[in-house]
Amino acid sequence: GGRVSADISWHSSKVASSDRARLLRQQPATVWLTGLSGSGKSTIAFELERRLVARGHAAFVMDGDNVRHGLSRDLGFSPADRKENIRRIAEVAKLFNEAGLLVITSFISPYREDRAAARAIVGADCFIEAYLSAQLSVCEERDPKGLYKKVRAGEIREFTGISAPYEAPETPEVCIDTGSMTVEDSADAIIRILEPRLGAA
Ligand code: PPS
Repeated sequence: GGRVSADISWHSSKVASSDRARLLRQQPATVWLTGLSGSGKSTIAFELERRLVARGHAAFVMDGDNVRHGLSRDLGFSPADRKENIRRIAEVAKLFNEAGLLVITSFISPYREDRAAARAIVGADCFIEAYLSAQLSVCEERDPKGLYKKVRAGEIREFTGISAPYEAPETPEVCIDTGSMTVEDSADAIIRILEPRLGAA
């Protein structure tokens, strides 16, 4: 990691976070979805965003595939690259939270240590770790992008859950078995946790 130069100073805002919270009628948070490829991260993230915005809240999804086309386009899937990917996403989520938004991140984020670092960057008070716990067999059966098929054919290396690790969260704020729960019920479970932060719109 780089160092912050002594010549770079911090300029603080004249707007307090409480002012932004009043303006947007919500307390910001980052819902950090984690789970295997095919566990339903993107589907649940965008459904959650849709529902929050429909209720008059400013919510925004940061999704794996989209971020890897831009912010993290220089990164691959080695442990070091995944760590850097997660660090960047956490820093951006923190900025969006500072701007007052409800952020939903949708990344495999397979390493416990990297998720702990993300929690520390975003701030433990607004970090909600949501583990989508569908079993590998369920994800592989769904195979929405045909990736598992390619992995089994030897076309993708270091694939999470097969040839690269996935370290399941031990104490997530919410755990959702997307193998047996509907998208509706999964989104409901997360909204319930967000509810205290959602002021009258
Ligand atoms: S990570 O581990 O959090 O940095 O990964 P993420 O940024 O979420 O990117 C995961 C998506 O990239 C595709 N993909 C791979 N995933 C895992 N392992 C390997 N080797 C790999 N190569 C490409 C895949 O489409 C993942 O998307 P999802 O939505 O999870 O299926």
